[in-house]
This record gives sequence, C-alpha cells and structure tokens, in this order.
Amino acid sequence: MYRLIRPLMFALDAETAHAATIAALRLKPLRPLPRFAPCLASQLAGLTFPSPIGLAAGFDKNGEVPDVMLGLGFGFVEIGTLTPRPQDGNPRPRMFRLVEDQAVINRLGFNNQGQGVALERLGKRDRRGLVGVNIGANKDAENRIADYVTGVKAMAPVADYLTVNISSPNTPGLRNLQSGGELVELLGAVAAARSPQGPPVFLKVAPDLEHGDHDRIVRAALDARIDAMIVANTTVSRPPLASPFKSESGGLSGAPLKTLALDALRLFRNASGRELPLIAAGGIASADDAWARILAGASLVQLYSGLVYHGPGLARTIANGLAERLEQRGMSSIADAVGSG
Ligand SMILES: Cc1cc2nc3c(=O)[nH]c(=O)nc-3n(C[C@H](O)[C@H](O)[C@H](O)COP(=O)(O)O)c2cc1C
Repeated sequence: MYRLIRPLMFALDAETAHAATIAALRLKPLRPLPRFAPCLASQLAGLTFPSPIGLAAGFDKNGEVPDVMLGLGFGFVEIGTLTPRPQDGNPRPRMFRLVEDQAVINRLGFNNQGQGVALERLGKRDRRGLVGVNIGANKDAENRIADYVTGVKAMAPVADYLTVNISSPNTPGLRNLQSGGELVELLGAVAAARSPQGPPVFLKVAPDLEHGDHDRIVRAALDARIDAMIVANTTVSRPPLASPFKSESGGLSGAPLKTLALDALRLFRNASGRELPLIAAGGIASADDAWARILAGASLVQLYSGLVYHGPGLARTIANGLAERLEQRGMSSIADAVGSG
C-alpha cells in the first residue's frame, strides 16, 4: 500500500507531506493494540514493553496520534518534543528528504503547540499502550533548566515515561546542556522535580560527542537516577551524501546516521556496563539494523526516518524479523540478546 502512496507524498514538500500524514492518521479509526510474539516483551524501568520497536520523537510532536501509531505496530510511542509554551520553530523550508541517501535533514526548531495542549489531549486517552513524552526548553526561555523542571512536573501525570531532550541541534545552545557543569545542574533539578510515584525519566543524547564525554554523561545520569538513555538524536556532522539537499543545515537522520549512532551506542555501553539501560535510535530501517543495536547493548530501539521511506508497516516487519532471529538462536526473550554481540 505505501508503495502506491509514496510517490504522491514525495511530490509534496517534506513538511507538507508530514502534516497531511498526521491529518490522515487522525481520521483513522482506532484499532485494538496488536499482539506481539511473547518473546518480544521486555521490562525496562518498571514498564513492560510488548515490542522493542518504538516510534522516535518528532513524528507526533503534539500527541495527536499516539494510539493510532500503537495500533499500527509500535511497541511504544514517544511524542514531543514539547516545550512549556507553544512556539513556531524556524522559518520554512526546514525539513528535507534526501531520497538518494534514504535520509532526512530537519531544522524545525521545536515547533509545537506547547505542553498545555498536549496535556489535555493525552488526559483523554484510556492509556492502553506505552506513550512517552519528550520535553524540551523554549528557544527564548530565560532559564532553560527551569523549562525542563516545568516539563517534568506538567507532563508526568500523562506520561508512561519522560525524555529529557538536550540533544536537538536546532535550538541554539541547547546541546551545551550536555556539557559538564550544566548537565549536572540540569539533571539535579530534574531529579528534584520528579516524584517517587512518577514515571521513569530517560535522557536523549546527541551522536556528536567527544572522547571522554560518554563516561562523564553516564556518571552524571547515574548520579541523578536517570532510568535509561536514548542514543541518539540527529547529527550535525555530514558523512558523504548524494542528495542536492546535502548542504542544508540542521540535523541529519536516516541511513547515513546508522554507523555513527551504532558507534555512539557502543561507547555508551562501554561506559555504562549494564548499569544504565540504553535505547538505540538513528538509521534503523530493518530487522538487521534493530538486531545489531540489540546485540550492541540496546534494550529497545526507536525509529522515525525509516517510516518516510518504508511506510508504517515497518514497525511490524521489524518486530517479526526480531522474533525470527530470537527463535533461530534458541533465545526465549529480547533480554537474552541484549549486549550479547
Ligand atoms: C523531522 C524530524 C523531527 C524530529 N524532531 C525531534 C524532536 O522534536 N525531538 C527529538 O528528541 N528528536 C527529534 N527527532 C530525532 C528522532 O527522534 C531520532 O532521534 C533521529 O531522527 C534518528 O532516528 P532515525 O534515523 O530513525 O530518524 C526528529 C527527527 C526528524 C527526522
């Protein structure tokens, strides 16, 4: 089906096609949650994930279609990034399909309707299926750390988990929150803002880090009781690309991010041992890609750009492929495979 629709979507500019997709998904009647092979289920941070394949942040920024996406075969859906106040983001065009590279470049800049609107929407869900809420800071925030504290407090009641996103390249200076003192201060403030009964908190990092950063970030995360890390967001680096859009500024995702994201995952696994669960993202578009991340130490994976090129059936295809690989190797669960490569 997606093969038929794809040329129509690709005739539109990337952001218009995305808006049309969300509008169409909103009209879809809700399906019951899919059943996954029992071997795909796993526990992380006190939550039971029925499949390790999640929808990465950025697709459903405003929490308009989380249940539709769960119905399409994702084991969990991360909405956002949501900032305390609504904001427009950067001027258009700001999202580009690099078809020759199976990639996307975006410099959206946290365009979103704000946490209040999403809170109301999510409050109406019946909460079958896991939905995480990714939070960020407004571009014009006087105190960025205070924006994360606001997000933790506001969104905790409707989130199965929260993701502290300090790795978007499209809000100037945001990634500085990953550096030494600022990270410790931010994570300390987040730890103080969360309640013991509240949802687990994940930290999403960039793939563009320097030698030594991985150990430092893991230490800060463990000290602040972060429950898992998402590795990684888009990259500001530019591996060789063929598309005419290759020089657009912003974060690159999709196939060219794959090696970089896998390398970053391995570095975080080395830095954290088994102490801090890892969630892999970046260039995952097949069961082989997801399997490689799991063997390298990821407990769960997320994807976004692969959907653009392969359509919404991708989550199911990958889940089935993982179940086959477990069976071939005589493993009874995903947990057996995590880090076994
Ligand atoms: C158009 C677009 C918008 C995105 N917006 C966000 C966002 O708001 N917050 C976030 O944490 N990540 C965002 N991401 C990053 C993805 O969640 C993911 O980390 C990254 O794209 C790598 O995965 P992929 O190669 O499967 O796309 C965005 C990605 C794309 C392509």
